[in-house]
Order: sequence, then C-alpha cells, then structure tokens
Amino acid sequence: MSVVITVAQQKGGAGKTTLAANLAAALAEHARVAVLDIDPQRSLARWHGLRAGQKGVPLIALSDLSGWRLAAEIDRMRRAHDVLIVDSPPHVESDAQAAIRAADLVLVPVQPSPPDLWATEGTLKLARDEKRPFRLVLNRAPASGSLRAAVEAEIARQDLPRLEAVLGNRVGFAGAFAKGLGVTETSPRSVAAAELRAVLAEIMGAIR
Ligand SMILES: Nc1ncnc2c1ncn2[C@@H]1O[C@H](COP(=O)(O)OP(=O)(O)O)[C@@H](O)[C@H]1O
Ligand SMILES: [Mg+2]
Repeated sequence: MSVVITVAQQKGGAGKTTLAANLAAALAEHARVAVLDIDPQRSLARWHGLRAGQKGVPLIALSDLSGWRLAAEIDRMRRAHDVLIVDSPPHVESDAQAAIRAADLVLVPVQPSPPDLWATEGTLKLARDEKRPFRLVLNRAPASGSLRAAVEAEIARQDLPRLEAVLGNRVGFAGAFAKGLGVTETSPRSVAAAELRAVLAEIMGAIR
C-alpha cells in the first residue's frame, strides 16, 4: 500500500516544512519515502539538498514539480514509493488543492493561538470540499497554559479532528533541519524525537 500525506496550512511559519521533513526522515528508517516540494520557497528541497551531504542516512527521493503536471507527478511518485509526503505553499490555490485532492491524509500544523487556528479555515474547507480526511497537529505547543487550553477548547467546540500528540517548541527541530536531518536522526532520545514518533504513530493509525 502506498500513502500520500499532504502537509497544508495557508499560514506561513506554521511548521509545515518542519513536520514534512521530520516525518520523512523518521519514515525513511523503515519505508521507501519520497518528498514533493510544491512551495516556490523550496525549503524542503533545500533540506533534501543538505541531506545529500550526510553519510549513512536513509535515502529519500525528491521532486519539486508543480503546476499543471502536479497530479500526474503525485501519481508517479506514489507508485514508486511506500509513502509520499507533500509540502505545500502558504496559500490556498490550485497546487495546494491538487495536493489535498491526492492525499490519503491532510496534516494541518497549527500553533496554539487564535489567529493561527483561524488561518486553517481555508485549508480545512479545501479538505472538506475534496472529501479528504484531515487532522490538525498542534505545533510549538507549550506544555500547558491558558492560550493552549483556549485553542484546544475551540478545536473541541468545532469538533475538528486533531492528533492528540503535539509537538513542543524545541530547538532540536531547527537544528536537525539545518543539517538535512530529522530529530529522530540527530537526537533519537530527545523529547522532540519522542513527540515526533507519537505524532507518526497516530498518523499511521489514522491512515489504516
Ligand atoms: N516545533 C518547533 N519547535 C521549534 N521551532 C519550530 C518548530 N516548528 C517549526 N519551527 C521553526 O519555525 C519556523 C517556521 O517553520 P516551517 O516549518 O518553515 O513553517 P512553514 O513551512 O509552515 O512556513 C522555522 O524556523 C522552524 O525551524
Ligand atoms: Mg514551508
């Protein structure tokens, strides 16, 4: 079975690329993984370029094709790999729509503040219109606090599907990214790696 996971959220800085890279690195330990970067900023493609300089890490395939060939490219990459992770640009347009349409699961990272939650609305509408399953993923979440509680309460009030596992604000994510790696590779025993594995486990449960 091959799986397409699209990371989408129209707000920049939400953690899309960080989540995509770390999931790809963790999955690549056991599976044939490809990443598709359709954000013109090409951060994930640059991460992949840094990874090419690392020895002894599992290979991950990369494409950065977008535009009118995107749907065919997703199809081609899906067939050649176990998992395809698509990182999308910070706006809702035709490329993001095609990436959501092709997804078995759409992940929507959101930082725990009201404007960040509001910013998910366009992406969630796309996922609903395309009838694709989606999950919010709280990113850079403090361990506790009124802001996190307020955002979690609002997510529950709207009955939005979310992962229970959350990612904290951990410098390890940026450090690993700068090397073309994931936190499960740079610091497998860190809290960040444990959080990432918990997120991954829930994702796999949601797909099966
Ligand atoms: N959980 C986290 N902990 C610490 N820093 C994070 C975390 N998630 C993202 N960041 C940082 O936030 C910035 C934006 O993240 P990025 O993944 O590029 O967002 P997006 O792709 O949605 O624009 C980057 O500098 C990244 O290192
Ligand atoms: Mg990005």
